[in-house]
Amino acid sequence: MSNLFRKKRLDDLLNQHGEGQLKKTLGATDLILLGVGAIVGTGIFILPGTVAASHSGPAIVFSFLIAAFVCALAGMCYSEFSSAIPVTGSAYTYGYVVFGEIIAWFVGWALVLEYGLAAASVATGWSSYLISLLEGLNISIPTVLSGPFNLAEGTFINLPAILIVLIISYLLTLGMQESAKVNRIMVFVKVGVILLFIVVGMFYVKPDNWQPFMPFGVEGVVSGAALVFFAYLGFDAVSSAAEEVKNPQRNLPIGIIGSLLVCSLLYIAMSLVLTGITPYTTLNVSNPVSFAIDLVGQDWIAGIISLGAVTGMMTVILVMIYGGSRLLFAIGRDGLLPKVMSKVNPKHNTPVINTWIFGLVVAFCAGFIPLGTLAELVNMGTLIAFTIVSLGIIFLRKNTNALSSGGFKVPFFPVLPILSFLACLFLMTQLSINTWIACGIWFVIGFVFYFLYGRKHSTLNEK
Ligand code: ALA
Repeated sequence: MSNLFRKKRLDDLLNQHGEGQLKKTLGATDLILLGVGAIVGTGIFILPGTVAASHSGPAIVFSFLIAAFVCALAGMCYSEFSSAIPVTGSAYTYGYVVFGEIIAWFVGWALVLEYGLAAASVATGWSSYLISLLEGLNISIPTVLSGPFNLAEGTFINLPAILIVLIISYLLTLGMQESAKVNRIMVFVKVGVILLFIVVGMFYVKPDNWQPFMPFGVEGVVSGAALVFFAYLGFDAVSSAAEEVKNPQRNLPIGIIGSLLVCSLLYIAMSLVLTGITPYTTLNVSNPVSFAIDLVGQDWIAGIISLGAVTGMMTVILVMIYGGSRLLFAIGRDGLLPKVMSKVNPKHNTPVINTWIFGLVVAFCAGFIPLGTLAELVNMGTLIAFTIVSLGIIFLRKNTNALSSGGFKVPFFPVLPILSFLACLFLMTQLSINTWIACGIWFVIGFVFYFLYGRKHSTLNEK
C-alpha cells in the first residue's frame, strides 16, 4: 500500500536534468508572450459566440470574469509550485514530489486528456475558420468532409482538422527549435487581429443587443464560466518552462499572472463587442467573430480576422501536442508507461514514436468528435489538475523535500489555496453528466493500466 504513495525527491529530479542543463534565457516579458501564445486560440475566436448563444447571453462577460478569477487563484498556486520545484513536468511532477506516485499518475493521466483533447478542439476550431476563409475565396470543401461525425448535418469527418494535426505532429518530430522569435510574431498577429475586431466592431455596437443581458439567469452565467474556462488554458505551459527562466522566483509568477491578465482583458472586450454587434441568439455558428464582422458589411476585415485566427490557432495546436508528447516522455522515463514513450530518435533528437502515437490519437478525436464535447472534457482534465495543485500547496509548505528558498508564496495562506480548490471543484460540478461519465471511463482505464503495468515498472522500484 505504502508504495502507492512513494515520492520523488527534488534532488533526484534536479540531477536527472543535470547533464543537459537548459540555458536560462527567458525573462518576464518572454514568459508573458509565451503564455499569451499558448492561451489565445479557439477560446476567443469561438466560445464568446457559442457560449453566449446557448448559456450566458451578453452576460458572457461575467462568465469570462468568473473563469479568470478561478484561473488567477490556480495560477498563483502554480506560481508557488514552479518556484519551489523548478523542474519541468508541471502538475505531474508536483504531484510526484508532494503526494506520491499514484496521485502523480492520476494528474498525469488527466493532463494527457487535457493536452490531447485541447489540441483536437483547437484543430476543430481551426478547421471552421479555414473553411470560412476558403469560402471567401469561393473554394468550398465538400460538407461530408467538413465536420465531425453527424448524420443529421450530413458531415462525416473533419478532414482539415485531421490534416493540420498530422502536419504539426510531423513538424514536431523533425525537432522544435523553441524559437521565442517565431512565437513573438504569432502572438502579435493574433493580438493584432483581435484588437482590429474590437476597434472596428466598437463602431457597430448597438446597446439594444445587450438586452436582455442575462437571458439564462445566474445559472447560465455560471455554467458558461465552466465552458469558457477553456479559453484560459495554456498558462500552465508557462510553468513548464521553469528550467529555462532567469530568476524563476520573480519571473514565473509575473509570467503566469501577467499572461492571464492580458488574456482576460482581451476576452472581456471581445465578448462585449461581439454581443453588442449582433443579438446573441445569432452567434451559435462555428466562426462567430468573422461572422459578426461580415454581418455589418466589413467583409475584408472578416477575411483578415479569419486569416489571423487560422495562423494564430496553429501555435496553440503545436504547443499542446508538444506539451502532451513531452508529458508522455516524462511519464515513460519514470517507468509508468512503456519505455517506447521515452525513446528519443537519435537523428532528430525528439521522441518521434510517442509524438506519432499521440498525434494519431489527437487526429482521430479532431476528425470525429464535436468541439463542444471535446472542450468540456478538456476542462474536466484541467480542473482535476488544478484541484490537485491547489491542495498541493498546503502539503508543499510542510514538505522539506522541496526547495524552501524565498520564492513566490501564495498570499493569504491557507485561505487562498483552499478557495482555489473549492472554486475548481465547483466548476467541475457545472460540467455535463456525459463529461463526468466519459472522464470516469478514462480514469478507470488509467488506473487499470497503472496497476497492471506502471506500478511494476516504476523506476522507483530500483531504489
Ligand atoms: N486556451 C486555448 C484556446 O482557447 C486552449 O484555444
